[in-house]
Amino acid sequence: MQKRTLGADLEVSAIGLGCMGMSEFYGPRDDEESLNVLARAVELGINFFDTADIYGPHHNEQLIGDFLRHSSASIKVATKFGIVRKPNEYKRDLNNRATYARHCCEASLRRLGVEQIDLYYVHRVDPHHPIEETMEGLVELIKEGKIARIGLCEVSEETLRRAHAIHPITAVQTEYSLWTRGVEADVLPTCQELGIGFVPYSPLGRGFLTGRFQEDREFEGGDFRASLPRFAQSAIGTNRRIADVIADMAREKGCTSAQLALAWLLAKGDHIVPIPGTKRLKYLEENAQVSAITLSESESAALEAAIEQLPVMGERYTPEGMKGVNT
Ligand SMILES: NC(=O)c1ccc[n+]([C@@H]2O[C@H](COP(=O)([O-])OP(=O)(O)OC[C@H]3O[C@@H](n4cnc5c(N)ncnc54)[C@H](OP(=O)(O)O)[C@@H]3O)[C@@H](O)[C@H]2O)c1
Repeated sequence: MQKRTLGADLEVSAIGLGCMGMSEFYGPRDDEESLNVLARAVELGINFFDTADIYGPHHNEQLIGDFLRHSSASIKVATKFGIVRKPNEYKRDLNNRATYARHCCEASLRRLGVEQIDLYYVHRVDPHHPIEETMEGLVELIKEGKIARIGLCEVSEETLRRAHAIHPITAVQTEYSLWTRGVEADVLPTCQELGIGFVPYSPLGRGFLTGRFQEDREFEGGDFRASLPRFAQSAIGTNRRIADVIADMAREKGCTSAQLALAWLLAKGDHIVPIPGTKRLKYLEENAQVSAITLSESESAALEAAIEQLPVMGERYTPEGMKGVNT
């Protein structure tokens, strides 16, 4: 597995592992299989695990903590705070206050069973709270050794610049994939300019770009995707054409759709580290092989040109969810 560096000094595998789906959002969980996936990821050279306090809530950090307590591997863990959720509800509030960051950080450290969080993200920026105050609180946590680095999710260019002026940001984590390319307009070039890493989440379009979802939806109970506009019955047929283009090109290149979607992201810049999510060994193995696949500029351009002909139907979140992005 090749390595990449986020920000000044966070050296990680070229792809990380998104752990969210091991706890909720994408159907039933299976802790035993998830622990096997974490162990196999390490064997495959993946050393960058992505979680958040609200995944579960808390189950995901506890699961990773259980794994880390029994592993001698050197894993870089990224976690997040800033979204406040009640158990068994999706409704949420934002809290970016420095006192809340401290409270969450200490709880995450206990659940993960580590002395320091390698990368600590603000999960969503609260537009009603000055980012400067949040950053000053996070800098205190760095001075105390509780976190090593700071990241921001779904941040606007303006907020990113303001935050970076207080303390260097190591990485921005925002949705980015072949069907979600909004960051290319401003945030991605700003990251490049300021030496900030970029971590695309949902790099497989929450699984859609792999071609898994056919005309008939097959979400198991409680699958969050059933609520997303792009996965609505009325949109899935239209959007399916995008997955078909990817499948056609993947076939020509002798790889899978998931591998092509990840290779396209890796080709976008050395400061990019996608974190495909899975709770299955089969998908993990497949995704890890992307390191061996290179996409030329002309191949990337052809893929983009074909997909640009096919406008995506539906926003990536509900109207409520869209309020939390690019803030
Ligand atoms: N900062 C944020 O706001 C935010 C938001 C969302 C996600 N994230 C992070 O980003 C990570 C990745 O995003 P994501 O999990 O939403 O989306 P993703 O990586 O685009 O897609 C995950 C889905 O694709 C499926 N999948 C994975 N590899 C596959 C393959 N090779 N073939 C077919 N299907 C495959 C998974 O299946 P199985 O479930 O069956 O394994 C899962 O349902 C998350 O785990 C989380 O850590 C962050």
